Amino acid sequence: ASTLGAQAAASGRYFGTAVASGKLGDSTYSTILDREFNMITPENEMKWDTIEPSRGAFNFGPADQIVNHALAHGQQMRGHTTVWHNQLPGWVSSITDANTLRSVMDNHITTEISHFKGKIYAWDVVNEAFADGSSQHRSSVFQNVLGNGFIEEAFRTARAADPAAKLCYNDYNIENWTDAKTQGVYSMVRDFKARGVPIDCVGFQSHFGSGGPPASFQTTLSNFAALGVDVQLTELDIAQAPSAAYTNTVTACMRVARCAGITVWGIRDSDSWRSGESPLLFDGSGNKKAAYSAVLSAL
Ligand code: XIL
Repeated sequence: ASTLGAQAAASGRYFGTAVASGKLGDSTYSTILDREFNMITPENEMKWDTIEPSRGAFNFGPADQIVNHALAHGQQMRGHTTVWHNQLPGWVSSITDANTLRSVMDNHITTEISHFKGKIYAWDVVNEAFADGSSQHRSSVFQNVLGNGFIEEAFRTARAADPAAKLCYNDYNIENWTDAKTQGVYSMVRDFKARGVPIDCVGFQSHFGSGGPPASFQTTLSNFAALGVDVQLTELDIAQAPSAAYTNTVTACMRVARCAGITVWGIRDSDSWRSGESPLLFDGSGNKKAAYSAVLSAL
């Protein structure tokens, strides 16, 4: 096939990108989006600070714009993200009472996931809950006020809101098998599967330096998949976009049957949150880079 989405679909996978609602009117951007990608993740529009900027006041407009675009163009959606310590409004991070925070968190998850019910392939229910260099959860208002159980609570609440959506745990720096953080997330997923806590997938953000993924990446993906979850590459970008680094990344996914798909974190280098590192598949003018051909060949 001659596009990323169609080539990924040939093996039953998807190829997605992060999208910013404000760029949908840029025809260079939307032309590439609709030609190449069959999965969309809102880059910011489904985060807490946009969705519920003050308690009980929900703002779905920017996310709806992206979802409507996807529906009109035959693209699927990833929901990103219901519970995260970043882009979290101050009214949430300042809550100190556990009953209040539990009710606020559950209401946020239920209201957001219900709003998009039936339109989301997979939700990043909890994002980045583990600490770097450790197997423990990071400090956050959710961890500090609700304790370790907040992740399980979030997944159970998400399942009730949209039983058909896949529910993912999403994080970065969990690509290298022997890292303590990888092991911590692996233990959590194993425990969730053993106890029947609803989890369907693990998202590996895959924000890489120019060397690309660690040598153990395929092993990590296989080991998680063996727990009975899908694995997804959810926010791929690679400093300087070397072709070899992109090839190695895509190949790791292709060799794991339960690697369901790959999402790059933006379309053109100029769209990237790491724009100084030119980490994406299209240059600022929308031309295909060498990494684009490497990815298409590896799919
Ligand atoms: C980034 C966006 O790309 C930026 O536009 C925003 O300013 C900050 O967040 N991990 C995630 C993503 O899960 O949501 C982050 O996206 C990048 C790191």
